[in-house]
Amino acid sequence: MRQAGRLAADVLAEIGRFIKIGQTARQVNGFAENLIREKGGEPVFIGYRGYRYATCVSVNHEVVHGIPGERVLAEGDIVSVDVGVRLNGYCGDCAYTFALGKISPKADKLLRTGREALKAAIRQARAGRRLGDVSHAVEALAEKHGFSVVRDLYGHGIGRDLHEDPLVPNYGKPGEGVELKAGMALALEPMLNTGGWRIRTLPDGWTVVTEDGGLSCHFEHTVLITEKDPEVLTWSKTKM
Ligand code: MF3
Ligand code: CO
Repeated sequence: MRQAGRLAADVLAEIGRFIKIGQTARQVNGFAENLIREKGGEPVFIGYRGYRYATCVSVNHEVVHGIPGERVLAEGDIVSVDVGVRLNGYCGDCAYTFALGKISPKADKLLRTGREALKAAIRQARAGRRLGDVSHAVEALAEKHGFSVVRDLYGHGIGRDLHEDPLVPNYGKPGEGVELKAGMALALEPMLNTGGWRIRTLPDGWTVVTEDGGLSCHFEHTVLITEKDPEVLTWSKTKM
């Protein structure tokens, strides 16, 4: 799982260097798919419930699962890219919301809070804590900064399959839910909105957007629970 996590992380970091104003989402996806395969991995999203792309590219009010099409990325966009790979039988899953050029102060605050929310979740990912501790950490941080947390989509266990038990909500009560144990791997993935938490799916059957048109961000790491500190498996030496 370390190898799969590292691959997913390296690909996401390379996307961060590649993504630019004027490119299409499809180009970003193509770049990522080639890289995954070059490095011996398999794009695990392809074929997942009929999805046909290696990545999801979700722009501005799109929350997640954006289909990478001909949309041209523009100055001021915030672009969430989600990457999933399988390598040697195990999966790695991570996502990052990139800022293109100069973004609004509100978007900037959203991204900073989203990154902090993921860090807060990771800090709770320890043996002996409960799932609700992780969930609550995200919710508390988001609300402190005036943002809402998407309630209908979740993080998840991860291993040989992309999605395994348990579901990991981004809201909840401390001390509730299953106890975390060393050896569990979780994909922690807060999704924060500037407006309300409600979402809907576009007629393409995939793209999830905010109901009120507010901006949304998505940050995800695959994290291993250990006897000591949590180990972020989708950590890359290459800087974002
Ligand atoms: N990466 C998403 C997740 O974190 C799943 C993507 S759905 C897919 O759970 F269809 F694109 F695979
Ligand atoms: Co995931």
